This record gives sequence, C-alpha cells and structure tokens, in this order.
Amino acid sequence: MLEKLLGAILGSNKEQYGLIGFPVDHSKSPLIHNTFAQLRGDNLEYRLILVTPEELEKTINKLCVNGVRGLNVTVPYKSKVIPYLAKISKEAEKIGAVNTLKLTEAGYVGVNTDVLGLRKSLLEKGVSIKDKDCVVLGAGGASRAVIAALIMDGAKSITVINRTYENAVSLCEDMNASFETDILKALPLAGIGDLPVNLYCFQCTSLGLHSDNALITDKNFYDKLLFGYDIVPRLSTDFLNRCQASGVECENGLAMLLYQAVAAYEFWNETEISKEDIETVKQKLYEDCKDNTNENTDN
Ligand code: ATR
Repeated sequence: MLEKLLGAILGSNKEQYGLIGFPVDHSKSPLIHNTFAQLRGDNLEYRLILVTPEELEKTINKLCVNGVRGLNVTVPYKSKVIPYLAKISKEAEKIGAVNTLKLTEAGYVGVNTDVLGLRKSLLEKGVSIKDKDCVVLGAGGASRAVIAALIMDGAKSITVINRTYENAVSLCEDMNASFETDILKALPLAGIGDLPVNLYCFQCTSLGLHSDNALITDKNFYDKLLFGYDIVPRLSTDFLNRCQASGVECENGLAMLLYQAVAAYEFWNETEISKEDIETVKQKLYEDCKDNTNENTDN
C-alpha cells in the first residue's frame, strides 16, 4: 500500500502534501487543501495516507526521504508521531500533540494548528470560555489541543472524562504541570452524577467519525450542559443529537477543521489565504457535508 502511494507521489509533478491517520477515509482535508491550491494557482496536491500503527515510523521516514512537503496528523497519531519528528514548536511541546508537519532539511518539524482552529471557531460563534466550567470528553492528542485552547481562553475548571480513566488522570497531571495550573481534574465515567450544571462540553473522542454512539448516553448529563461542541467534523453526530434533544446550544467541528487547515496551509507555503478564498472553501465544505448526509440518509 505504501509502495503504491510512493509511486504515485514520485510520478507527480506537483508538490506533495497529505493526511496521515487511521482511519482517514471520511476526511474533508483533501477537499479543503486542493480547493485552496486551485483557487490560488499553487502547484500542489493533497492526499489521504492511511497508516497502520505498526507502519507509523517507517511511513514518516519514507514520506520524508521522498520529499513530501507537509502532512497533517489525525487520530490516533497526534501525540504518537512526536518521537519521529526532528523538532516540535514550544507550544506543541507544552500541549504534547501536533497536527501539522513541515519538511525541513533536518526532517519534519511539528506544530499544532488545532488550538488556533478551535479558538477561532469559538470567537466566530461568539462563545466565550472565560470563567466557565468545562468538560472534555476524551484524553488523546485531540483533547490536549482543545484543553490548551480552553486554558488560553480563561476556563475556570476543566473536567476530563474518558473511557480509560487512567489516561485522563495522566493527561491532567501532565497538562496541569506544563501549563502551571491546577484547573484540570479527571472524573471517572461513574462520577458524572456529581457534576455541577451550566457546563461547556467538548467532545474530543474519535467516536462520531463514523456513526457510533456518544461516550455518554445518560440524558441527565446533557441536561446539565449550557453548550456542546463536537470536534468531529460532521454536520450531525450522536453527541450533537443528544445536546439538541436536551435543548443545548451546540456546534459541530467543521469550522475548527477549516481554520486549522488554513493555518497549516499558511505555515507550509509561508503565505496568507484571503478571506474570499476561505469563504469559498467554507461553502464548498458545508455543501459537500450536506450531500454526504443526504447520501447516508438515502442508504
Ligand atoms: P487523537 O490523536 O485523535 O486524539 P487518540 O490519541 O488515539 O487520538 O485518542 C482517541 C480518544 O478517543 C481517546 O480518548 C480514546 O479513549 P481511550 O483513552 O480509552 O483509548 C477515545 N476512544 C477511541 N475509541 C473509543 C471508543 N470506542 N469508545 C470510547 N472512547 C474511545
């Protein structure tokens, strides 16, 4: 599979970019980056690169020696890819996760544009996190970026709930230390009845990428929320449906996906994308998601 991909990469006269992850099949990143390239007349192409966990190190090395200029990183590699990089930014080191890699002479350099993507999408929606009690579902690399954004935006408290409680505990210890704070606390799933009301909840597990049920299915939990954000870039997920059923204002992850991609494209190409091009891609992205929703419903 990797050899076939490398053949296609080497046979192309365009600069190569891509997304590594497992799975990657439903990703909208190629649509975003290839449309930016078309609109701007940049000679580049962006592909999906499915990488099994056993092949992560080898794939990174091969993409590097074959001159693939830039990569995005998605589930489950946002933290796991770090040992194979030449360098990461100070911010990414503090967060403990990257989502964007750029080729340099020394190898790939990693940064995190998810933080900016989330902050920008919250600002755009007029949602302020300052002094709010927040809940983060999930304790992987994506949660780390979301938590960093919530800390930067002045959250009062952040409770982390995860399928594997121990992962939530170690994430909280780690990030409390690196951000010199004590606002992060892990809560076992069995403890959700003790949560206060008026919570701002961020769904950061990989559940919802396909049509899975949310991590928490108890309606009492959703009744405590003031705001729900699913970072999964789909118009509808089980988490969002449950928020809506409890009358909770909520947002999907499409704007975060778009703004992290804009920041990645700008970092790779040392450029600035115009507001008009961002708007064009945004409309195309939402249209494409609507079409897919209709297709799924029809099936
Ligand atoms: P990423 O890099 O995108 O954050 P990750 O680091 O693998 O990916 O994290 C995935 C998150 O989704 C984790 O919180 C994981 O929970 P565990 O720590 O228990 O593994 C969560 N997750 C993945 N599959 C899940 C499932 N089927 N049910 C509940 N949580 C799940």
